Amino acid sequence: MHIPNPVFHPTFNITRTSHVVMTVRDLAASKHFYTELIGLIVTEENSDTVYLRGLEEACHHSLVLKKWNGTPECLRIGMRMFTDDDLVKAEAWYKAQGLPTKWVEVPHQGRTLHTTDKSGVPLEFCATMTVVPRLVTAVRLFKGGCAHRLDHYQILTHDVQGACDFYMSQGFRMSEYIVADHVEEMAGIFLQRKGNPHDIVFFTGEGPRLHHFAYTSIDVGTLIRACDTAGSLGMGGIVERGPGRHGPGHAQYVYFRDPDGHRCELFTTHYQIMDIECEPIRWDKNSPMRKEIWGYPPVQSWVEDASPFAGLALKPPILKESGMTLEKFLAARAK
Ligand SMILES: [Fe+2]
Repeated sequence: MHIPNPVFHPTFNITRTSHVVMTVRDLAASKHFYTELIGLIVTEENSDTVYLRGLEEACHHSLVLKKWNGTPECLRIGMRMFTDDDLVKAEAWYKAQGLPTKWVEVPHQGRTLHTTDKSGVPLEFCATMTVVPRLVTAVRLFKGGCAHRLDHYQILTHDVQGACDFYMSQGFRMSEYIVADHVEEMAGIFLQRKGNPHDIVFFTGEGPRLHHFAYTSIDVGTLIRACDTAGSLGMGGIVERGPGRHGPGHAQYVYFRDPDGHRCELFTTHYQIMDIECEPIRWDKNSPMRKEIWGYPPVQSWVEDASPFAGLALKPPILKESGMTLEKFLAARAK
């Protein structure tokens, strides 16, 4: 296990988590879930796509739902660059890593670059989007969990150390990390660009798969209100985990499963971390405080389920602690 030195002046400037593109089987059911329960605003919709944003977001979209009759998947996770010049520099950098790059036209986004990380996770970078009204003071429009802004992704990956090395070489900084007891290997990492504990999180597991995406809410009362809203909509069963308080990040949280099983977290936002002298916080994987400060432990579905990335084959975790060999993994999947 090693923690790379932080890169304070990366070749290009990724600024934050931006948007996620998911496929869903029933657009109306998903729109109902994300507007009434999570509290997002519909910016635009047509017969096969719904664009949504949080209450404080002035960007056109942070969640894009696309109708698809196959297995519900994550098509892309999006990150913002500071300028178009950063996009050009990123294209060259990703090419130099031997990774695919392609300029694409995406509605309501400026120049947009498609690529993948080293494990194949599909990435979408842009620097600008169509600007729309920020509704943070339009309290009359607040519903359910009152989602304010997209904050981070969590990904299950077979290779946490590899993800750590790859993203930190682009200027991501580690705020906290989880070490698998006894083997001294990375089991989880929290990486950030925007100055709070995470933009992207990697946990060890069968992957790569998108475990969840997370929106900030107002306070713990609003998290409870979201749960009550789920109940009043006859969807109480989709409250999967929480409310509770995380160890890493220290936020209060609740996780929901949308009509296709995609997982969305609402949480009270966490602390600021920017200063260069701050060292990453270490957690031991089996520490009770790491799992939750308070609240029930995660149910099995929270540990095991995640959304596949389109067209991406899964790999078993390489963490020695898992005891999972390729042979065992393939045999288990064949059952
Ligand atoms: Fe999260």
